[in-house]
Amino acid sequence: MFTSCSHLVFRDSDPPRRVHPTLAGYMLEALRSRLRLSLDARLATSKSQRHGHLINGLAKSARRSTRPRCLRRPLSNPDVYRQPSPGSPPKMTPFPNPSKRRKSHPHPYLSGNFAPVHKTVPLTPCKYTGTIPEELIGGEYVRNGGNPVSNEDLGRDAHWFDGDGMLSGVAFTRTVDGVQPEFVNQYVLTDVFLSTTTSKHLRTPILPSIATLVNPLSSLYNIILLVFRTIFLVILSRLPGSVQAIKKISVANTGILFHDGRGLATCESGPPMRVSLPGLETIGWYNGKRAEGELGGEEGSGFGGVGLLGFMKEWTTAHPRVDPRTGELVLFHSTFAPPYVHYSIIPATHLPAVSTTPLDRPTRLLNAPIPGISSAKMMHDFGVSFNHTVIMDLPLSLDPLNLVKNKAVVAYDPASKSRFGVFPRHSPEQIRWFETKACCIFHTANTWDDQVNNKDSGRVETININMLTSRLTSASLVFSAGDVAAPQPISLDGTEEEDQCRLYYYQFRMDDPDQNRINYQFALSAIPFEFPSVHERQGMGWVKYVYGCSTSEGSFGAALGRAVKIDCLVKFDTETLIKRGKKDPTVQDITGCVDTRTVQEIVDSNVEDDPISVFRLPPGWYTQEPRFVSRRNGQNEDDGWLLTYVFDESQLDSNGDCRPDAVSELWIIDARDMNTVVARIHLTQRVTYGLHGNFFSEDQIKSQRPVETIRGIKEMDETKQGSLWLAVRDWIERFLG
Ligand SMILES: [Fe+2]
Repeated sequence: MFTSCSHLVFRDSDPPRRVHPTLAGYMLEALRSRLRLSLDARLATSKSQRHGHLINGLAKSARRSTRPRCLRRPLSNPDVYRQPSPGSPPKMTPFPNPSKRRKSHPHPYLSGNFAPVHKTVPLTPCKYTGTIPEELIGGEYVRNGGNPVSNEDLGRDAHWFDGDGMLSGVAFTRTVDGVQPEFVNQYVLTDVFLSTTTSKHLRTPILPSIATLVNPLSSLYNIILLVFRTIFLVILSRLPGSVQAIKKISVANTGILFHDGRGLATCESGPPMRVSLPGLETIGWYNGKRAEGELGGEEGSGFGGVGLLGFMKEWTTAHPRVDPRTGELVLFHSTFAPPYVHYSIIPATHLPAVSTTPLDRPTRLLNAPIPGISSAKMMHDFGVSFNHTVIMDLPLSLDPLNLVKNKAVVAYDPASKSRFGVFPRHSPEQIRWFETKACCIFHTANTWDDQVNNKDSGRVETININMLTSRLTSASLVFSAGDVAAPQPISLDGTEEEDQCRLYYYQFRMDDPDQNRINYQFALSAIPFEFPSVHERQGMGWVKYVYGCSTSEGSFGAALGRAVKIDCLVKFDTETLIKRGKKDPTVQDITGCVDTRTVQEIVDSNVEDDPISVFRLPPGWYTQEPRFVSRRNGQNEDDGWLLTYVFDESQLDSNGDCRPDAVSELWIIDARDMNTVVARIHLTQRVTYGLHGNFFSEDQIKSQRPVETIRGIKEMDETKQGSLWLAVRDWIERFLG
């Protein structure tokens, strides 16, 4: 999702950077010593079977070295390009055996159904039971998530947000007599993925793990070594003999959305990556004007521009928003250098127009600075209403400069403030900051304006901005997802909140220019709640229902030693809960909560028109983020279905590992009653517990922009083998591997 080493990106035109020879020499020697120690230690811990695997692995690598691969091929000759071969994994680490750590304490986010899958398949027919709603026919559900191709849990740091992006989709293919669901999964062929899988000697991921960056116990020395290793590998990738140059370090593993004729896989350490639907092939990086590999399109610099820091300014939020009325794509870019956040708006220009309210004069805004932010932050999501944007400057830093302050690169400061910057969509210079107590927010559900007609001026004026978010009272989720102990909270003033993650309501007052006041800020429910979403075609305006994930087994924050698993989907009637909260004087600012029931109490409740509905999975089954698809001509806002992948953990063996034949299902759940599973698609393999998904309609798939080339496995010119440089290069890669 993010990484703080993204400053290592090189643009096309940049020559490899030179490092000061003295410093480079020192770092190289330190790195060499460390890696030698590390390798020695690994070898010492296993003299028999493991050593055999090591030798076999290196031998296999050596054999592979005579068959390097990979390059873009013209789509006009589809037989010659290829994704990774269906059914066969890309090159994997030559250390397949679990480490000592794995035996004693498997990483919770790399075991069970969090463990990566290594088999990719093209569109493959699936059996199903039930009735597939006609609104889904011709469309496709796709979910993104990290699926590390080179990091088995070898005792190294790892984090749920690490890992190469893998897209897993179910296309509802139209047939003469109805519909045939087809499963497909593909890696997103990023520069990092292609470089990793075509490398002969890499055994560990090119990028440092987020777990290393968030761990307070990580030494400055260790982090510098890992960063320099990445720098060397990036430089190496751009020198002769490489199959794939690393120009951008995003692994595109977080979200997926559709805008203006393009499917876009997202991750905040780079620009969006265009992918094709329904096959999920990787097309190329999108810069706000065109994607690599597209036929035609606009030329010129896009996100980031052409300046010295342009490579940072193209890092784009994993959660851009598409205005369902105008078709505009609204997004921000968070960087390490002042002003730290930039902001872009991309109009829809591709026919057929998707907008229901075409803009009179579509305007493009690229990398406008957001004023008022004083340091680099971990900024994952934001709020967008029809007229305003809300940037969240929260006290969760993601700043390499923390190291010189003896703090982790990622650090949470509970004594600081949360700041919400609100501005008219096209005027970030008019930002107004609203401050409140420290918290973490990774996802917003919806943002909308309260507007009135000013009888005196005759103009429509915004009096309030409303926002619904999943609010955490600490950063413990960031640590637990890396299997890292969260720092103990500092005792402040006795008002600390217990560790929780709840659906929160904020209202920012806009009609008083002299003071920036938050009218309301309270929780709608006490149950754990994350991965919120709404009826997207009605979002940015007021909506009644918010859908998302909950757990009956704990909280989303404190989960060290085990992964948070979702066993409940929830639907909130936010209209009712917000009204109750505003009327109830006992619901205090910040700590107030409207509905204090637990998940079990809600499940057991017989309240008529209960504002909270829970879909609880059968015992042992777990699910993921749901996405709402509306019924055509539905009568109510919730008239539609929730789509989500589910997994039955009775398919785990006695060690907690997935059996080779384990499979997942895609469930289609009636969103009105939050009870009926109208169809179950039986997939041909399992889908890991991942991050964000989306549903793409038949119209969207048909309206994709034409493509000239796609990414695929490259082939190296074997006539270049055997030179002295390549021998040196091989040695360096083996040394850094
Ligand atoms: Fe996210």
